[in-house]
Parts: sequence; C-alpha cells; structure tokens
Amino acid sequence: MKRGSASGKVILLGEHAVVYGKPAIAVPLVQLRATAQILPSSPGDGLVLDLPDVDQRLALAQAPADHALAHVTRRTLAALGLDPAPDWVVTLQSEIPPASGLGSGAAAATAIARALSAAAGKQLRPDQISALVYESERLFHGTPSGIDNAVVAHELPIWFVRGQPPEPFSVPRPFTVIIADTGIPSPTKTTVGHVRQAWLANPAHLESLFQTIGEVVLAAREAIQKGELSTLGSLMDTNHHLLQGLGVSGPELDCLQAAAKDAGALGAKMSGGGRGGNLIALAPAGLDRQAEIVHALECRGATRVLTTVVGGQDDK
Ligand code: PMV
Repeated sequence: MKRGSASGKVILLGEHAVVYGKPAIAVPLVQLRATAQILPSSPGDGLVLDLPDVDQRLALAQAPADHALAHVTRRTLAALGLDPAPDWVVTLQSEIPPASGLGSGAAAATAIARALSAAAGKQLRPDQISALVYESERLFHGTPSGIDNAVVAHELPIWFVRGQPPEPFSVPRPFTVIIADTGIPSPTKTTVGHVRQAWLANPAHLESLFQTIGEVVLAAREAIQKGELSTLGSLMDTNHHLLQGLGVSGPELDCLQAAAKDAGALGAKMSGGGRGGNLIALAPAGLDRQAEIVHALECRGATRVLTTVVGGQDDK
C-alpha cells in the first residue's frame, strides 16, 4: 500500500487582500491532516476514487470534469506519465473540517498527488505539487490566490504574493496560535465574491483597505523575524478590523475575537474567507494563560479549539 498525507493550514495575516496582489503569511497546521492511500483495484477496473468522508466512490473515467479531486488525480497521472490510468483504488480521508478556512481542499488534493507519486515511484517537487493542486483549487474556489496550495505543498511558513514563487521563511522565536472554530461553514467562494462586488462598487476605498492590509502584513513579517510577539499581536488586531471593513467578518467571529482579547490574547483575528470558519488568537507564553483563552473561546461558543506552535523544528 502507498500513502500520501498533507497538513491543513491557517492564514496568519493578509487574506482577501492577497487576491488583489498584496502579501499574505500562512503556516501549516500539522495536527490536522488529509491522508490518501492506494491499493490495487480489480484488473480492468481502472482508477477508482473512494471518498468515504462524503460517501462517494467513483470511477475516474466517469467522474465529471469539474470534480476537483478527480481533476487533480488526472493532472497528476499525466505529470507522472501514467496513461492509461492504473488499476488502483485511491481512498482519501481527512481530519480537516471543510469550508472552515483550514485548507481542507488543498490538503485533500495534495495528499492524493503525493500518494500517486509514491505509488508511481516518482518524486514530484513541492512546486510541481502546488501547481497541480492550484488547478483543483480553482474548481473549489473560483479565483484562488494560490496561497493554500503553496503552504500545503511546501508545509512551511510562507510569505506569499500572488504570481510569485512562495517564500518559505524561518520563525526564530516560536509562538503559539489558538484556533477556534465558529462551527459555521463558509465557502471561500462566497466571501471572495462579496469582496469582488464591493471592489467593483467602490474600487478606491477597497484598494486603500488592501494597501493598508499589505502594510500590516509586511510589518508582521518583521515582527515575526525579530520575535516581537506583542507587536505581531497588535498587527493581527488591526488586520481583523480591516477585514471587518471589507465586510467579511461576522458577529460570531467578532464575539470570539473580543473573548480572546479579554482572556489575554496578544492579538486575534478571523482567518481565511471569513463570515464563519475560524478565529486565530496569538497566545502569550504560559500554559495557564493559554488555557484561559481556550476556556473563554469555548464558553463563547467555539465548537472546536486547537492549539498549534508556529516555528521551531526547522519550521516543520
Ligand atoms: O478560506 P481559506 O482559508 O481557503 O482562505 C481563503 C483566502 C482568501 O484570501 C480569502 C482567498 C484566496 O484565494 O486567497
């Protein structure tokens, strides 16, 4: 049996403005993973995609052209020179909740691409996997910036500007991020579409918000590299308020943001597409203080709270 797995991700700063050419910072979320495994199917059956999480099992040959995981499978087989498709069953299982800004779609596609290359005995580079996964992200999201596939394929903290190669960067002073799920699924396509409408209606105002977000993200990168966590925290707060200005936050996210801050977070903001999905909070040092923030978020309705450390261990 051959396997491939991929992590989830969180966007630390810069979502939405990244679609308009501004920088963003994203980190892998290694605790939550999607895993694909490959076993032989009956001879002549061709390649079968088995997706138990969504109760779907389909022959690749019959899968519609806009099926995102079938698409990445076809593209990866072509990149590996596997034509016709081998008699394999590819089973995908994921711990990453869908439509919550944690990179579920990119992780699923990356896990499949990695498992196929392992089964073919050929290595694909992270940038090749990222390019294959980007195509399936387009089917999930419409006009993705490419940040999800980049951070998931590299599995490192990245500085990302649309259209440029992602820049993995080191985090000299590791920090803890608490991730709280509103429990409200929110497809990225919807909020990206909302921002596009707002931008078409009032380009000057939206451009100036994007510009300020870009400046905040640049300052945040400097703060991360200097280990200045309280500065990073304030920049996350500012980014949250700018995202409110874009109209992509929501009452549940704002309530969790205030709860995290009241409980001692250095900063807090929505992450990803917004409206629902996840809030992220930068935790101060000390397990007790972190536990207080987790408790406050749970009391204010978070349906799941995770803690992750960014940096250290060669940033993996
Ligand atoms: O909802 P997520 O985590 O997939 O993130 C979307 C990030 C956006 O900037 C809103 C869209 C994009 O394609 O970058």
